[in-house]
Amino acid sequence: MFSVYIVAEKERGKEWAAFLKSRPEDVVLAGVADSLATAISECAQSIPGVLLLDDDLLRASSDSILPLAQAPYPIVLIIGPNDGAATHRAIQIKAKDLLTWENWRGELLLSLEKTALPLYPRDKKVGRVIGVFSPKGGVGKTTVAVNLSVALSQKHHDPVALIDLDLAFGDVAPMLSLNPALTIRDVSLTDVDPDTLNKALTLPYQNLSVLAAPAAPEQAEDILPSALVKIVGLLREDHAFVVMDMAPGYEETNIIGLDLCDTVLTICTPDVVTLRTVGQALSLFHDDFHYPADKVRLVLNRTGSHTGIERNDVSAILKSPHLYELPSAGSQPVRAANQGIPFVIQEPGSALARAISSLASELAEESGRNESGRWLRRAAKTRRPSS
Ligand SMILES: Nc1ncnc2c1ncn2[C@@H]1O[C@H](COP(=O)(O)OP(=O)(O)O)[C@@H](O)[C@H]1O
Ligand SMILES: [Mg+2]
Repeated sequence: MFSVYIVAEKERGKEWAAFLKSRPEDVVLAGVADSLATAISECAQSIPGVLLLDDDLLRASSDSILPLAQAPYPIVLIIGPNDGAATHRAIQIKAKDLLTWENWRGELLLSLEKTALPLYPRDKKVGRVIGVFSPKGGVGKTTVAVNLSVALSQKHHDPVALIDLDLAFGDVAPMLSLNPALTIRDVSLTDVDPDTLNKALTLPYQNLSVLAAPAAPEQAEDILPSALVKIVGLLREDHAFVVMDMAPGYEETNIIGLDLCDTVLTICTPDVVTLRTVGQALSLFHDDFHYPADKVRLVLNRTGSHTGIERNDVSAILKSPHLYELPSAGSQPVRAANQGIPFVIQEPGSALARAISSLASELAEESGRNESGRWLRRAAKTRRPSS
């Protein structure tokens, strides 16, 4: 797997991005720009696996040749027809490969595979990335992400990383009584220096490392999508599971987060408004993002809350092959959140804790989690909650 940054004339960029998005198992999009200056500055902050460059932009911007020639990432150039000077430009920028507009579709993936810096070695076992998503807020994403992470980490004693990707309004840290000195923002600002990442991970419980959201909403924009690609790449090297508590909606970093997931648990509640927005999300995943059917799983939260909509209605409307159910638990989750102790720890025998535990078992079994001790623990700095 590798990340690609696209810089191209607008329509062409869209077309290339759509093509690459249809290969989520190979490619992660680190960014798309239609200005070379923007691309060069963003790629300097966070290095992509490969830069896919439209020669039309290069032809119009000779100042860019030097920075591109010195760039630490490989470049694949796509050129127009009958342009002899293009080959010269390709050599000047030290492009690793040259494709043409006519044949790019047939050759692009092979070319990128050949040239890109891989996110992680191909034959290495990497952890499974599970996103907890919903287009709506307030449906239980954080509740599920936190308790599922704890349950997964206790199941087979495998290391689990939990990333709070609700960058503006994340509340994973308080739900686990954490008050971290460093957040995902500090990691991103260092272009994902592994030491800073280690320092930013806090350990509320054995086998669980947490990377908190920025301290203030306005800092959310400091997290570049390409930094997220690197963070997830590093964390999945030594965690059996990387769970992401996603933001609602389709902001760019959130979409990259979704692309990086092996499994997207999409949370729905039994009410018409949420069903509608979740239905739209499922169509988007299928039609526009081209996610494999098995990647997207539906979680119906707060069942039994007498809303007049039952499981059968939901599966009839949303037609998802996977549907997990989590019962409504009255004030239990709020109480647990107020105390900063996950209910799977505080009240493991409760119906909701048991349902989350069995979801964790199912996911763990699917990932073949029977051989323990396979995952080397990252030398994370253990910082107990400050309170
Ligand atoms: N199964 C459930 N039963 C009862 N309350 C729940 C359940 N799931 C979530 N909640 C409550 O719903 C509210 C929203 O949950 P939260 O996890 O913060 O949602 P999100 O992250 O989607 O915004 C919280 O007060 C939480 O305690
Ligand atoms: Mg939340």
